[in-house]
Amino acid sequence: MRERRKLDKGWMFHAGEIGFVARTVAGSGKIAGITNTLPGEGKEPFAGALRAARLMREASRTEPGMEHMTDEELSWIIFGAQAPLTLEGWEEVDIPHDFRLEAGYVDDPKLYNQGHLPNGTGWYRKTFPIEKKAQEGRVVLEFDGVMRCARVWFNGCFLGEHYSGYTGFRFDVTELAKYGEEEGLNVLLVQADTTTGDEGWWYEGGGIYRHVWLTFLPTLHVGQWGVYVRPVVTKNRADIQVETTLQNDGAQAQQVCLHTTLQGPDGTVLSLEDVSVCCPGLGKEKGKQNCQMEDPVRWDVDTPALYTARVEVWQEGRLSDTYETTFGIRTVEYRADQGFFLNGRRLMLKGACVHQDFAGVGVALPDDVVQYKMDRLLDMGVNAYRSSHHPASREVLEICDRKGILLIDENRILETSPFRMDDLEEMILRGRNHPCIFAWSLSNEETFSGSAQAARIIRRYMDVVRKYDPDRLLVSAEAFVDTRTAGKYGDLFDIYGFNYPEGIQRKGLYEKIRLETPALPVMNTESVSCFTTRGIRKDDPSRGHCSNYGTPYTNRGILEGPNAGGLATPYRAMDFYRQHPESGGIFIWSGFDYRGEAKPWVARQVSCNFGAMDLCGFPKEAYYYYQSVFRAEPMVHIWLDWNYENQTEGSVELRVSTNCEEVELYLNGTSLGRKRKEGHWLAWEVRYEPGLLEAVGYREGHEVARDSRQSAGKPCRIGLASNVARICPDGESVAFVTARVLDDQGVTVPDAENAICFEVTGSGRLLGLGNGDPDCRENDKAGKRRAFGGLVLALVQGNGEEGQIQVKATSGLLQPGELTMECR
Ligand code: GAL
Repeated sequence: MRERRKLDKGWMFHAGEIGFVARTVAGSGKIAGITNTLPGEGKEPFAGALRAARLMREASRTEPGMEHMTDEELSWIIFGAQAPLTLEGWEEVDIPHDFRLEAGYVDDPKLYNQGHLPNGTGWYRKTFPIEKKAQEGRVVLEFDGVMRCARVWFNGCFLGEHYSGYTGFRFDVTELAKYGEEEGLNVLLVQADTTTGDEGWWYEGGGIYRHVWLTFLPTLHVGQWGVYVRPVVTKNRADIQVETTLQNDGAQAQQVCLHTTLQGPDGTVLSLEDVSVCCPGLGKEKGKQNCQMEDPVRWDVDTPALYTARVEVWQEGRLSDTYETTFGIRTVEYRADQGFFLNGRRLMLKGACVHQDFAGVGVALPDDVVQYKMDRLLDMGVNAYRSSHHPASREVLEICDRKGILLIDENRILETSPFRMDDLEEMILRGRNHPCIFAWSLSNEETFSGSAQAARIIRRYMDVVRKYDPDRLLVSAEAFVDTRTAGKYGDLFDIYGFNYPEGIQRKGLYEKIRLETPALPVMNTESVSCFTTRGIRKDDPSRGHCSNYGTPYTNRGILEGPNAGGLATPYRAMDFYRQHPESGGIFIWSGFDYRGEAKPWVARQVSCNFGAMDLCGFPKEAYYYYQSVFRAEPMVHIWLDWNYENQTEGSVELRVSTNCEEVELYLNGTSLGRKRKEGHWLAWEVRYEPGLLEAVGYREGHEVARDSRQSAGKPCRIGLASNVARICPDGESVAFVTARVLDDQGVTVPDAENAICFEVTGSGRLLGLGNGDPDCRENDKAGKRRAFGGLVLALVQGNGEEGQIQVKATSGLLQPGELTMECR
């Protein structure tokens, strides 16, 4: 029976080069050194060239002149068995891992796109036993993602190379594996090399940064991504077509029976008619089944109903393999004159473009971090996510399915080299059962888009995509747009994606395209790119900080004028959508800040200023603006804080974001007036006076929401709060602990920059730290961080043991903060 085990724990890691490791040698499986078991690592029956050289010497079969050579020299000469023999200088790490983040920042303006984190090489090595019984079936090593250019060795043999950091890959190692105690440990060695070139213009990390799996399969099994469930929906009916691809790794043809059940969201089970399949030896065969469903439960953004298909493979009356996949039933459509439709209902896409990077971990995101980011986006009110600019991870797909988030999964790179074609195919096969994916994006802002060569590549891509998935929408995301390419190249796609149609530089272009090609469905695939820094009121180029009230710098760092703020402000983008609802919605650039594209002051900053949230997921003012537009639940939010003692002008422009009809503002209990919401926010000119500021939101005359700000005093103590009181003791779960610098009344001090030291004891460990300051070059993996805007985020991970986790935060004379969590 199939079984999948995570191979994430207990790797050895070496930063930087380790010397030459051969990829081919004269003797089979004899690359030796660290690619195989080293002396002392249990049994050595397959110890490779070193052991063979030793045996040859003992048997006096070495050539004259070789007798004075060391065993190592001998093995190199006889077998060319070149690999280091020692693990000196290696350290223990767990996967997911990002070695570039650990190495820390350098000062190099050329590296601004990569967040001043240099490229490099990291080596990973793991030894593990495989039980004897496993050789009855197949053994597969699976990598969800290695950044980038992974080279893999296993038991003295070079397995191969995988270039892209964004797609998974796997090796069947059945014959090469060692089984049981007599054969000894298996050795897996991986080089992750980011010096071969970037795949993007943002920080992409480095290392084995997604899960690694050891998978056991029966000899005849359901193949990789082997069950495709295609619901074809007409009115109140769905025709469910299930196509199972069997893979037979045995030499003899086998007759099997496929028994498939579909379990609905309410638990009801539907059995499909069994089908018999003859799978050739060392070959593949497909089995097709189908059924009709009346009134199926639809997957939708508010009710993300999932079905489970379970395929059983029966061989001579014995159950030999089972495979489960979830799927959803929904329709998606895009109309040129009306935009996006889900299940026949017009829906505004409230989307965010997101890179993988996060505080404390870089791109090496434990599953809880992916979930945490998604929860922050949901709280902001999004219903759509664009995996920019690469295929989404397995975890993103699963969360979007479960949470009802519509996804654009993206390929981006327009090249038809064989390995890029494989990457495209992998993305489609992996994703096509996921109802969250409503569109495949084939490219983003490729400079040659619109050319004859790009058109040829797109046509080829489309043929491949449609072969595997005839139903989803195919979209581009274009920056280099004009009316000619829109008409002649854009019409290749189901939807022509237009990035930044609201941009100041694009004035009138969208309207022109709509006028000249009215039948062309055009979607707003990317918007905003506005610079703001959390908590900041005034620009400070010396620190890379941009005002939430608008900054005069453009995306190219040019001083353009009030509120240029990058490419466009959130307000301009929202106005554009309101004037052009047929543009589908909005995909803001970006949900979170990320390292790289450190604009507008590229030489200084390590992360960008584009996010609605900072790198820690702490909200900026734009976040609340989006919330006021995206969400129906009443909300009111006072911008920034209420500490203006250094204000030189007479009054303060105080803004409030809300989706209420009216807001009344009070200062120390005195009303400053009630205002009706008309523009994007409400504003009051207020003479500063320390104390309590309150905003009360009304709908139909009733109070429905409230927010307040209290002026803060001097830093006095540290307050700690975790997003959860308990985490699971699986050694992977993460708690997000926010440290706040508080005054003696417990109010957060908004300009506090105290350096805070963290100590985690008991059943946990400190995974990383962040403060959301784009200018901060402190290492996320050090145990200390300066507060920014009064806050530090600590990611605390269980260490695999049950018990309690204690977190202690100290800073000079401040009263320390302490927190205890359960890990059970
Ligand atoms: C877009 C691009 C994004 C990011 C953004 C910054 O054109 O698609 O990846 O670079 O600009 O403004």
